[in-house]
Amino acid sequence: MSKILVLGGTGYTGRLIVKHLVENSKADITVAARHLDRAQALADELNQQYSDDRVKAIYADASQTDSLCQAFADQMMVVVAAPTTAYAENVIRTSLSMGLDYLDVQLGAQKFALLQSLAHEIERASLCFITEAGFHPGLPSALVRYAASHLDRVESAITLGYLNMGKGLPYSEAVDEVVESFREYNGQVFKNGSWTKLNSYEMRTFDFGGDIGRRRCYSMFLEELRTLPSLFPSLRETGFYISEMHWLLDWVIMPITWAWLKIAPQAVRSIGKFLWWGMGTFHKPPYRVELQVQAAGLKDGRPVTVRSSVAHPDGYELTAIPVVATLLQYLDGIARKPGLWMMGHLVDPFRLIKDMEKMGITCATRIQAEEAECL
Ligand SMILES: NC(=O)c1ccc[n+]([C@@H]2O[C@H](COP(=O)([O-])OP(=O)(O)OC[C@H]3O[C@@H](n4cnc5c(N)ncnc54)[C@H](OP(=O)(O)O)[C@@H]3O)[C@@H](O)[C@H]2O)c1
Repeated sequence: MSKILVLGGTGYTGRLIVKHLVENSKADITVAARHLDRAQALADELNQQYSDDRVKAIYADASQTDSLCQAFADQMMVVVAAPTTAYAENVIRTSLSMGLDYLDVQLGAQKFALLQSLAHEIERASLCFITEAGFHPGLPSALVRYAASHLDRVESAITLGYLNMGKGLPYSEAVDEVVESFREYNGQVFKNGSWTKLNSYEMRTFDFGGDIGRRRCYSMFLEELRTLPSLFPSLRETGFYISEMHWLLDWVIMPITWAWLKIAPQAVRSIGKFLWWGMGTFHKPPYRVELQVQAAGLKDGRPVTVRSSVAHPDGYELTAIPVVATLLQYLDGIARKPGLWMMGHLVDPFRLIKDMEKMGITCATRIQAEEAECL
């Protein structure tokens, strides 16, 4: 029997992972968190709803290795959906030493570096470790692979993020990780066949189409993009860009956030609350979270463009659903390969899109033959 423990299973992302896993798989699921009463309440609710007693609750604190050892006993995989990058080493090393497969949705350069340093050990132990899972990171490289598979030769593949949940944006401690990630900000993109300078950034206007329309966007480097040019040697341009939201956010709230972080780097919690207040206060429709890939290349010798988008009104759904769609591929063995993988590189992107759509994500793809340029 497949046994998956979701660390942080009562959080915004975690509870959706648990719910979609119960609905879409036959795995036994354990909800792990420090507040056992909340974990038990969620397990009871889901067991009642699906009446098959597949969900259990257990106490676990990522900062306490002993508690992880107790919680992880008998499990097959741990899914890390808690904002606990500060304790990533505890969770990663405990999973490895106890022979558990692993998946995380966390942001964090140090976590990624640690996993990379353990990659050989993970492979030698025949364990499957999946990192950089979720919306972003997670979906951009999967969407690039999806778009590229519609072309014989992919020349450019830009990914664009639009995040606007309006006043429905909930605050959680995980916002600390978002603010922490600003410290590691790097806006590199791959352009004209090479990466732009480390820590450089680009501001460009892209047309999202539909009701989002043309937006100024800011580049943001994601680890999952790094190896795309070697995966697709014909690629001349790729990158991830995040859309502007509201002029007050772009020109007032964000500059204050950056300056505050520079002057008082220890004030992460207050800075995060201020940023979230700004995002929940200054907004205008359309309200949703969307990721697009805009790719161009050749098909049967003709220039073709491919546009694919995935969207949901709730950004936590857009994080949890790709994770569960990946876990479905893991559970049936397709994606259960030894080694360290980034989600977007491991999954079968066609099946990912199909399964995400079944779970409520709006997916659209438009393939268009372009007029060949006459010289
Ligand atoms: N990849 C993506 O696209 C993406 C998107 C959004 C978020 N994220 C990441 O997803 C993670 C979760 O975000 P979220 O907003 O869902 O967070 P959240 O709602 O704050 O998650 C809280 C959950 O984590 C548990 N938790 C907190 N500290 C813990 C500890 N020391 N040990 C064990 N459990 C602990 C909480 O339970 P207790 O308090 O009871 O312990 C609760 O279950 C974050 O790392 C965030 O950066 C990724």
